[in-house]
Amino acid sequence: MSGLSSITASLLRTKPVEQLTSDGEHTALRRSMGLVPLIALSVGATLGTGIFVVLGEAAPLAGPAVVVSFAIAALAALFSALSYAELAGAVPVSGSAYSYTYATLGEIIAWVCGWCLLLEYGVSVAAVAVGWGAYLNEFLGSTLGWRIPDALSSAPSEGGVVNLPAAVVVLLAAAVLLGGIRESARVTTVTTLIKIAVLIFFVAVAVTAFNSDNLHPFAPAGIAGIGSAASMVFFSFIGFDAASTAGEEAKNPQRDLPRAIIISLGIVTLVYVLVALTAVAAVGVDDVSSSGASLATVLEQVTGRSWPATILAAGAVIAIASVVLTVLYGQTRILVAMSRDGLMPKVLSKVGAKRVPTTNTLIVGGVVAVLSALIPLGELVNATNIGTLVSFGLVNVGVLVLRRTKPDLPRTFRTLVPLVPLLGVGMCLWLLRNLPAVTWLAFTMWSAVGLVVYFSYGRRRSALNRTRPDAITADS
Ligand code: ALA
Repeated sequence: MSGLSSITASLLRTKPVEQLTSDGEHTALRRSMGLVPLIALSVGATLGTGIFVVLGEAAPLAGPAVVVSFAIAALAALFSALSYAELAGAVPVSGSAYSYTYATLGEIIAWVCGWCLLLEYGVSVAAVAVGWGAYLNEFLGSTLGWRIPDALSSAPSEGGVVNLPAAVVVLLAAAVLLGGIRESARVTTVTTLIKIAVLIFFVAVAVTAFNSDNLHPFAPAGIAGIGSAASMVFFSFIGFDAASTAGEEAKNPQRDLPRAIIISLGIVTLVYVLVALTAVAAVGVDDVSSSGASLATVLEQVTGRSWPATILAAGAVIAIASVVLTVLYGQTRILVAMSRDGLMPKVLSKVGAKRVPTTNTLIVGGVVAVLSALIPLGELVNATNIGTLVSFGLVNVGVLVLRRTKPDLPRTFRTLVPLVPLLGVGMCLWLLRNLPAVTWLAFTMWSAVGLVVYFSYGRRRSALNRTRPDAITADS
């Protein structure tokens, strides 16, 4: 075999599905999660900064048609969710899109996907934590009449010194995860129920002021405005795939992962559309976007009192904290998978006394805390979106490839091929097109660093080198 073709073959070597699954079966992680905790994990990772903060920023782009933008973003998420569901049922391990692409598209693509997931999970959790800090201040201001000073609650580029609340919530979430997954799942279930209740409360109050005049003109910026808003609110759907990072801690992953993913996407879409519609219809687009704590402002206007807004702010603080918890959890589990495959250092998959990856959790918690303390929200959000859209695109392609390479693999859920994965790829590409050039530049640089790490570390240490030294050939 010539040098070039052997390198190409090694880059495209795939990890056999059976090996992935057996790695997962021999996991040291504890299988403790049933369907409801898995749904709570996904909803918990999804409902957060997007609806509480980003709605206010997207509304001026699309006008009342921001409701349609949510529906379009939901559709993009749905096509990819169906692909996630198929792969989660067929390859029920902890690494989410990373593991799926390893089984289907080859090591180099899996690496790129895992590297993108560091943006989807690691960077987004930093963004979400920054949003949490802002809401905490809102809550403190409305209850105690006192706020954490700017110097200690915003990033250096925003005139502050350090964003302390953001860093603290990340470290607290890491501490909860170190306490063990069973306890974490319980915390997630409770906080998820609280935030759904708070958003239902919002809808119930806002609907009393429903005024259809506020919905005209419906789409002042036309399709372009709706599209830009859709790319922005896509952020609010990120996280529905979190259940797929818990493949090795689910009691019955084949049955429950696909269900959890689809049910949680349905729940959040319903909540988003109702919240967006009632908010805009109650006070109009301008007022929805008049403050960072947009939903609290709407309630204040609708009722003329401050206590409903305070309840909502409290709910936002809980809601966003639970996103931090679940997304941080997802990040640690993806790194477990990458480390076990040899592409990341072994220490990241070492499981401690409580059967959680202790060092991994400490490192991830520390790095994310620093990011959230020093970088402003806006810069983190687009980076999150681009990484997520690329990895979603790869998952859709992965479904098509696995149907060809492993047609007989047991699948507990089947999406409609090739239509739905192709629609999924198309939607991801369309939303990617709407992202700003500077985001693309940053992403290109991020990918370049990732490739350097892969070629200087992962490729040589890949577990496939050890288990199948002869396997410097593509798996068929
Ligand atoms: N979807 C998550 C949120 O909106 C990232 O906070």
